[in-house]
This record gives sequence, structure tokens and C-alpha cells, in this order.
Amino acid sequence: MTYQWVDCEPAFIAQRYDRIAGLIGLFDRLLFLPPQLRRRAAAGLRLNPGDRVLEIGCGTGRNLPFLRAAVGATGKVYGVDLSSGMLRRARALCRREQWENVELTQCDALEYIPCEPLDGIMFGLCYNTMPHHLDVLRHAWKHLRPGGRIVIMDGKLPRGRGANLALPFGLWLMKHTLLGNPLIKPWNDLAAIADEFEMEEFLFGSWYACWGTKSAAAQGYDLLPAEQLLAAE
Ligand SMILES: C[S@@+](CC[C@H](N)C(=O)[O-])C[C@H]1O[C@@H](n2cnc3c(N)ncnc32)[C@H](O)[C@@H]1O
Repeated sequence: MTYQWVDCEPAFIAQRYDRIAGLIGLFDRLLFLPPQLRRRAAAGLRLNPGDRVLEIGCGTGRNLPFLRAAVGATGKVYGVDLSSGMLRRARALCRREQWENVELTQCDALEYIPCEPLDGIMFGLCYNTMPHHLDVLRHAWKHLRPGGRIVIMDGKLPRGRGANLALPFGLWLMKHTLLGNPLIKPWNDLAAIADEFEMEEFLFGSWYACWGTKSAAAQGYDLLPAEQLLAAE
């Protein structure tokens, strides 16, 4: 049997997340998100105090504490998200924590232009919610400084026969909740463009984080042929 995913429009995705913004913590628990996953994903960016980091699809800000801790008070954390409801909660978190160096923007990740080169970029549980993920990855790569790192962290189908069993339920669940396409393999996209690539799996392969480094000799977008990414899909 062949399964298919139907992509959604950005307005529909934003509306869905506006509606479920209050339930994100609950989803983490119901989907058994490994407690160490967010910390580990951020740590693998190898950020230093003073660095500049962006979280794409930052949502309610559940990764921001780890990114903010890594860059410290002298660094800068940028977050971008489509959903005003999700961002409202992230902004409340920043106010509570009195973080003055976290800047959040509501727009499509593809339209977001950072005002400076970035040392690290995180896609936290959002890559497969973006139908245009390859364009967003290319765009992000262009704004990553040479030697910088990208992390993609998300859920995935477990290895082996478990994948076939989990797929119909995964498709149904994602369609009615977080809108993450379980059929794509984001780690292949990152591996195809990165100079160095690493991946770690958690909970029998049902969660992962993967990191890619941009070559220190890279000079930007011209080093990322579109065919490389298309071949990865
Ligand atoms: C499952 S939530 C993850 C939130 C957060 N990163 C976390 O780890 O808890 C996915 C987020 O991606 C955002 N998103 C989806 N498509 C987007 C796009 N094209 N541009 C920016 N944000 C997007 C959604 O609004 C949502 O807040």
C-alpha cells in the first residue's frame, strides 16, 4: 500500500498552531519526547558565549532556554514562527526570564532575513511541518557563517518493521495535530549539503537530532547546488 501526505497552505498551518499552542507541552509528553532531546540538540550546535543563533519554527519557545544558555547574555537568539498564538507564549517566556537578547519575529521562515550571519540554526520539531522545507534549508544555509552548524531535531518512524506498523497511525495523527509529514527524511537533506554530518537517535529510533557543519572555506549560497538537495529527497 502506498501512503501519501497532502501539504497544507501556510495560513492553515498558522491557524492550526494558533489553536493548539496551549497543548504543546502535552504533545511532548504524549509522544514520549525524550527529556534530553532539546538540550542535546542545542549542545550539538557547539555555540559559544556571544554567538548568534536562530531557531526556525521556535513555537512557544521550549528550546529557547538551551539556546539562550549557550550564547549567554552577550550573544543573541533569534526566533521565527508563523503562528501568533505560539509566539505569544514564547514572548511571555522571554518576559518572565527577563531575556533582553531574544528577538522573535512572526513570518514564514523563507521570508526571514537575519540582520547578521549566524553561528547556529535550529529546526526544532518543525522541518517536516514546512512543505517548502528544501527552500527553507537552502535559505538558512545561506545565512549560516562558514564553520557554523545547523541542527534538525524531530520525531521519525522507528527503524525496521516498526516503521510500516507506525506509518498509518503517524499519518493520521499528524494530519489531525502537528501537521508534520512523516514521509520525508530531513537528515538526508542536511547530509547532502553539510561538510561534516552527525546523527543521533533516541527511543528506538523514533526521535533524532542531526547536525551539519558548513565548511569553514564556504563562501555562501553558491556552494550549495540545488541538485544536491533535490537528489537528497
Ligand atoms: C511542532 S512546533 C515546534 C515548536 C518548537 N520548535 C518546539 O520544539 O517546541 C512547529 C512550529 O513550526 C512553525 N512553523 C511551521 N511552518 C513554518 C514556517 N513556514 N515558517 C515559520 N514557522 C513555521 C509552527 O507555527 C510551529 O510553531
